[in-house]
Amino acid sequence: MTNGPSKRAVVTGAAGFIGSHLCERLLDDGWRVTGVDCFTDYYSRDDKLSNLEELASTPGFDLVERDLLGDGWQRALQGSSVVFHLAAQAGVRGSFGSSFSQYAGNNLVATQRVFEAAAASGAARVVWASSSSVYGDAETHPCREASTQTLPRSPYGVTKRACEDLARIYRTRDLAITGLRYFTVYGPRQRPDMAIRRICNALTSGGTFELYGDGSQSRDFTYVADAVDATVRCARPEATASIYNIGGGEEATMARVITTLETLAGARLALDRRPAQRGDVRRTSADVALARRDLGWSPTVPLHRGLAAELAWVRARSSIREVSA
Ligand SMILES: NC(=O)c1ccc[n+]([C@@H]2O[C@H](COP(=O)([O-])OP(=O)(O)OC[C@H]3O[C@@H](n4cnc5c(N)ncnc54)[C@H](O)[C@@H]3O)[C@@H](O)[C@H]2O)c1
Repeated sequence: MTNGPSKRAVVTGAAGFIGSHLCERLLDDGWRVTGVDCFTDYYSRDDKLSNLEELASTPGFDLVERDLLGDGWQRALQGSSVVFHLAAQAGVRGSFGSSFSQYAGNNLVATQRVFEAAAASGAARVVWASSSSVYGDAETHPCREASTQTLPRSPYGVTKRACEDLARIYRTRDLAITGLRYFTVYGPRQRPDMAIRRICNALTSGGTFELYGDGSQSRDFTYVADAVDATVRCARPEATASIYNIGGGEEATMARVITTLETLAGARLALDRRPAQRGDVRRTSADVALARRDLGWSPTVPLHRGLAAELAWVRARSSIREVSA
């Protein structure tokens, strides 16, 4: 699918997990892409540079290393029809305590600045990343965009919920704004703080995995290529809703994820059992009927295949490191 050589997009958070995959997909589809990222220190710069490895040598991609809370990035929006805004301070547990100011800045203030800049630049659309965290511990499942109450249980979820309110205010006839409530995205390049990545690391290098809670908590895991496909579809005029649930369709407990990865790795995982953490919810599950209807989107990668892909990526990465050490 090609959009013609003149289509330009900006992707904020381009050096991150989902953002780097999104840039690759857009370039494959014929877009010219400017990535904006300031390489926050939430995880290592080296990890983010390796996320960008393929992009760095792809014609049609350039990177603007700037903080959305500062200036100098706004001119990258000139001539772009779509801004994909994925930059944020992610992670539920870290959002308590003194680090909340980073969440307020990199999520709420940065998002308001992106909406302002997009409106000023004449971009037609902003597609941005919200989160299933806005639902908190929902009383009924699966969660639906219009009818399930949003009651975040973490400060992170509160910032995403507040961004949704901002998006409603900034939506105008000239600027379409579409948010995606991603449900636990996983796959190659997953952030190093996320559970599946930590499990794969422990299985590959023989470490232990800190399991928070008893393992019966479940998530609607979403493979990254599916999340990216939904994101790209949100750039089209058919994406008329303000928000879409994007979930992988195969809710699984942490215990099941661990067993599946142990079988795939042919190894037992050493567990360090810890109490459930503040902000962690018991369950997430998405009703994706709206995304199916408007975007023609549905998830395609089953959990088993996606877990195998992430494990293979972690293994390949660790063997490259061993060779170069
Ligand atoms: N990964 C998931 O499961 C998941 C689930 C729900 C929502 N989300 C949302 O999706 C988006 C991408 O998540 P991810 O997992 O790829 O995270 P990530 O941390 O890998 O990527 C975010 C990127 O944004 C950049 N960034 C942060 N603040 C910035 C600022 N002020 N200026 C410029 N760059 C900045 C960071 O350097 C980082 O590279 C985020 O908005 C996140 O909240 C992710």
